[in-house]
Amino acid sequence: MAILVTGGAGYIGSHTVKELLKRKYEVVVFDNLSTGHRELVRGGYLVQADLRSLEEVRKVFRRYRVEAVMHFAALMQVGESYADPQKYYLHNLISSLNLLQAMLEAGVKHLIFSSSAAVYGQPSEIPIREDHPLQPINPYGASKFMVERILPDYDRAYGLKYISLRYFNAAGADPEGELGEWHDPETHLIPNFLLYLQGRNPGFQVFGRDFPTSDGTAIRDYIHVTDLAAAHVLALEKLKSEQNSQVVNLGSSRGYSVLEVIRTAEKVTGRQASLKFGPRRPGDVPVLLASSERAETWLGWRREHSDLEFIIQTAWKWHLNH
Ligand code: UFG
Repeated sequence: MAILVTGGAGYIGSHTVKELLKRKYEVVVFDNLSTGHRELVRGGYLVQADLRSLEEVRKVFRRYRVEAVMHFAALMQVGESYADPQKYYLHNLISSLNLLQAMLEAGVKHLIFSSSAAVYGQPSEIPIREDHPLQPINPYGASKFMVERILPDYDRAYGLKYISLRYFNAAGADPEGELGEWHDPETHLIPNFLLYLQGRNPGFQVFGRDFPTSDGTAIRDYIHVTDLAAAHVLALEKLKSEQNSQVVNLGSSRGYSVLEVIRTAEKVTGRQASLKFGPRRPGDVPVLLASSERAETWLGWRREHSDLEFIIQTAWKWHLNH
């Protein structure tokens, strides 16, 4: 029996596939390779197909014996989602509905869903617990919220058991150097700044210096991608053993400002940068910080790699070799 991993050729998906293979799971990656990369799939089977086609999704369930699904495939650029919301609802919402339909037809009732801190919108309480109100402020976050809203209905009516994992800021790269963050275009802080230090990104700016934080730049909760990957395997095992649906934040519960990240990156790389400041990016909130209590107590998750220096060391190693 295999685990079907949609988006397994992407950043978090490929790191999770590696973790699954290490634990001897059979893996089938389903990816249209629009933003994923064949080179990041280091094992298992790769099916190049598109979730927006229900027939293509059905086909994979006919061809492989699937025991559970991890659903990473999605578009994830907040800015782009403002400019082209339809694209986000088609890729993130309609694709998810197709996947759920094909799962039910095939009798597959276990799902790990990639959600996001973006479902919370502007937080009213820090750290953010899972019972915080969900008020997404951009189409990307809304598309994740809508799938989360649908899942309990499918549980009640069809017995579909799921765990939605709400990621905070995924960062870093495989400590063994095989995998890393590879987006085109890149929008995230750590890779953008490392590319700038390498002279490969002339346009780096700090977005906003007037946030209500100690140094005026936005605070985020960075979590190592290998720790995220391990949480997915724990969630899968928990789902199989307990058959209970759940929603879990995945963050480090430690916040760093953009300037703190930059200073740490300068220290790790031994390179200095002269910084340019630009206006705030639309939709950026001042502080995002997870409560990890449920991940620790319910899931039994321990973060091993999420020290900011280690995150940046592994990302730097990937950027130097890639
Ligand atoms: N930033 C810069 N310069 C850059 C890139 C980012 O200053 O070149 C700043 C951003 O404005 C933000 C912080 O660095 O304050 C972190 O930005 P990222 O783009 O790395 O991450 P976000 O917090 O914007 O986004 C992450 C996920 C999204 C998710 C969101 C939840 O990547 O998928 O959290 O709100 F939607």
